Amino acid sequence: MRLEPPTPVSFEEIKVNVREIEALLQAPPMKMPKWPEAMITLKDGRTLYIREIQESDIPPLLGYLEKVMKVEKDFYDIVGVRVYGEVLSLVRKRIKDPFTLLGLVDGELVGFANGRAFDKDIAISLHTMAFSRRVRAGWPMYYAKTYYALELLGAKEWWSTFESYSGWRMAGLEMAQPTKPWPQFQHELGGARIYYLTKEAWDAGVKDYCKQMIGEDLNFNVTDEVRKANAVFRVPDTAEL
Ligand SMILES: CC(C)(COP(=O)(O)OP(=O)(O)OC[C@H]1O[C@@H](n2cnc3c(N)ncnc32)[C@H](O)[C@@H]1OP(=O)(O)O)[C@@H](O)C(=O)NCCC(=O)NCCS
Repeated sequence: MRLEPPTPVSFEEIKVNVREIEALLQAPPMKMPKWPEAMITLKDGRTLYIREIQESDIPPLLGYLEKVMKVEKDFYDIVGVRVYGEVLSLVRKRIKDPFTLLGLVDGELVGFANGRAFDKDIAISLHTMAFSRRVRAGWPMYYAKTYYALELLGAKEWWSTFESYSGWRMAGLEMAQPTKPWPQFQHELGGARIYYLTKEAWDAGVKDYCKQMIGEDLNFNVTDEVRKANAVFRVPDTAEL
C-alpha cells in the first residue's frame, strides 16, 4: 500500500536489512526448561526412551513424516502433515516457544509429542503420534509433554484438542478433561474444542495417570545402558501404521 507523504522528505526510500525484519517476525523467546530424559516400559516389554528433539533428528524425521502424511487411516495423514509443519517450524523459527519430545526404542522412532508455551500461564498441546501400534506408545508421550507443561514449565493450564478417536480416548477421556465453551474458545488446531487441564486438576489426581493407565511412572533416572542403546537416532524404514 502506498500513500503520499504529508511533508516534503529528504529521501524517498529506506533500505531494511532482513535481519531487522527477522527480529520482528520472531517473537522474543521465553526461557524454556530442559526436558530431563526419561524412560518407561511399553506394553510389549520394550523400554521407551523419551528425550528432547535434536537438530540432527529433523531431516530424517521430516523424510519419515512425508510418508506418514500419506497414510489415509486413523487420521495419520492430517496429524502427519500438521506435525511436518511444526517440525519444520523449529528450524525455520516460525513457532513460539516449542517443546518437542521423541520416544525411541533402541534408537528407532516410536513416539512423538509436542506443544508450545502460549504465555507464562497457558501451554498448548499440539500433537502426539505413535509409530509402533498397539503398544500404547502414545500414552506416555502425551503424559510426558503434559508433565513438562504443568510441572517443569510451570503453566497453570494445558490446552489440548483431539483430531482422532484414539487421541480423544488416550487423553480426553482417560484424563477426564473438561472443555472450554465453544465457539467462544477455539484451539489453534482447526478451531476445534479446547480440552484442558488445570494445575489443580493435575495435582488432585491426573498426575497419577501414568501409574494408573500404564502401570508405572516415568523414570527420570535413565540408565547408561538405555542411553547407549538410543545413541543413534533412526526412523522406521516404512510407514506401515
Ligand atoms: C492417538 C495415538 C497417539 C494413540 O496412541 P496409542 O494408543 O499408542 O496408539 P495405537 O493407534 O497403537 O492404539 C490405539 C488403539 O487403536 C486400536 N488399534 C490400533 N491398531 C489396531 C489394529 N491393527 N487393529 C485393531 N485395533 C487397533 C486399538 O484399539 C488401540 O487401543 P488399545 O491400546 O486399547 O488396544 C495414535 O493412535 C496415533 O498416533 N494416531 C494418529 C495420530 C493422532 O491421531 N494423534 C493424536 C491427535 S489428537
